[in-house]
Amino acid sequence: MNTVFESVIDGIVSEGYGIADNFLTPEEVTTLASRLREHRGAGQFRAAGIGNQQKIVQHTIRGDEILWLDEASATPEETAFLHRINEFVAYVNQTCYLGLREYEFHYAVYPPGAFYKRHLDRFRSDSRRKLSVICYLNSDWLETDGGQLAIYLPEAEGQSEHQITVNPLGGRLVCFESGRLEHEVLPATRERLSITGWLKTG
Ligand code: OGA
Ligand code: MN
Repeated sequence: MNTVFESVIDGIVSEGYGIADNFLTPEEVTTLASRLREHRGAGQFRAAGIGNQQKIVQHTIRGDEILWLDEASATPEETAFLHRINEFVAYVNQTCYLGLREYEFHYAVYPPGAFYKRHLDRFRSDSRRKLSVICYLNSDWLETDGGQLAIYLPEAEGQSEHQITVNPLGGRLVCFESGRLEHEVLPATRERLSITGWLKTG
């Protein structure tokens, strides 16, 4: 796993974002996706909000539904996922001195057609979010399914602002600095599943 963590950090340092394609195994992707569907079937998901007050703005900004992971009531698969995140946090703290102390993660479902407009992940009133982490739970995702994560890379060294897009492939992890990179979720033609979270200072 350490080489996976290392490639994510190398990506962040050199490009501003890191991607690892095997953060989760195909089996972990399938079991976490089933857990997600069970929770959703049990009515545990809520429309996601915006900002500290979690205002719901009627799907004009974001159309996903979320469920926060709770360590105390986590299933074995969820506990294993959070354990992997703990290892990543320990690795980041050893190599980057970001002083990460806490994290928060939620499941997210984007129904077909749902999107999340261009935004920054850090609330004005809460600067503790240091790294954004997104882990996709979509088996057999095709480019033509849409749902790409678009990341806007700021102007630097003669390069103007430009956009890169990432397909939400099952098992893939994407990580970037929460306060630095604006990004957007493009609409998909099928349901798009993920676990998204933030690594925070205390
Ligand atoms: C978010 C977000 C990106 C994605 O939840 O804040 O930007 O690819 N998610 O799901
Ligand atoms: Mn975001």
